[in-house]
Amino acid sequence: MSHKILVLPGDGIGPEIVQQGLKLLACLSEDFSLDIHVEQALLGGVAVDECGVPLPDATLEQARAADAILLGAVGGPKYDDLPREQRPERGLLALRSELNLFANLRPALLYPQLAAASTLKDEVVAGLDIMIVRELTGGIYFGQPRGVETLTGGERRGFNTLEYRESEIERIGHSAFVTAQRRNRRLCSVDKANVLEVSELWRETMQRVAADYPDVELTHMYVDNAAMQLVRAPKQFDVIVTTNMFGDILSDCAAMLTGSIGMLPSASLDGRNKGLYEPIHGSAPDIAGRDEANPLATLLSIAMLLRYSLGQAEIADRIEAAVGDVLQTGCRTADIQTADGRLVGTEAMGDAVIAALRERQ
Ligand code: IPM
Ligand code: MG
Repeated sequence: MSHKILVLPGDGIGPEIVQQGLKLLACLSEDFSLDIHVEQALLGGVAVDECGVPLPDATLEQARAADAILLGAVGGPKYDDLPREQRPERGLLALRSELNLFANLRPALLYPQLAAASTLKDEVVAGLDIMIVRELTGGIYFGQPRGVETLTGGERRGFNTLEYRESEIERIGHSAFVTAQRRNRRLCSVDKANVLEVSELWRETMQRVAADYPDVELTHMYVDNAAMQLVRAPKQFDVIVTTNMFGDILSDCAAMLTGSIGMLPSASLDGRNKGLYEPIHGSAPDIAGRDEANPLATLLSIAMLLRYSLGQAEIADRIEAAVGDVLQTGCRTADIQTADGRLVGTEAMGDAVIAALRERQ
């Protein structure tokens, strides 16, 4: 079967990490007989530069036609002063929304070789393996009305709307319960039900969905406590399900537990296994073009792409194992440097993973 993959390098370090991803995709077609067709398109700041908008129609069309999408990163200081509608981030948000990619899976997994790279103590993070399921196409990111208005008297007022429909909560609930069933069958729903009505509805709805999954244990936690528990005792979690903005914040926090945000992949899925795969770190403009960025989150995103969109779990496992092999040899990009490590650049890290994967074939 032939698979169409759309690659969106984006901005900042996006192109250089995606370059490593392209090498991996080429290796998968050559050595693993996957029939992969890669196309590239513009998204983010580069699209603003070339076409005047962050998500050009042509990109959206190609994205609709693709089986899966691989994204580098979008955004950069150059675009900070643009009107909101033209911001690179808006392109990514529009793509998520247009393709209905409502379920965002963000695994935080600590490779044992990197325990010393985490800012937390070894015993707190050793063996860490949690999954954050973030709702991605609703909540305060998309709620209407939104804007900044000028009040009589001249003072300005900014406002956004946090809203969730029961159907939106149910579908992310089902994704999270199914994810928990495939793991250790514990799901923690994170909300702010002590203050927000929408959170009350979220909690009630999760409880209702739970009836379909008697084999999964559902618990609830307020988001402030969840942030604290993530750094106090992160291993108490198996799967966390939460709203768009809480998930944005908690997943960055969880990323640091694994040593570096440069290690974390993500999958954003619609209801039919189509997905957008991206590292959760941003475009890191400060190190762009210097062969310093960590490409592992991108390569691990390709593993997720194989697992969730192409049904190739076995090759996905092998890519993840190859990353472990490379870390075992002491190869480290700057963000995950440990005392026993050997500093390498983006290119060398990408090559090392591909070589390790070939060895595992
Ligand atoms: C993320 C990012 C995005 C988000 C930005 C770039 C729009 O922080 O994927 O976590 O807030 O969702
Ligand atoms: Mg984020």
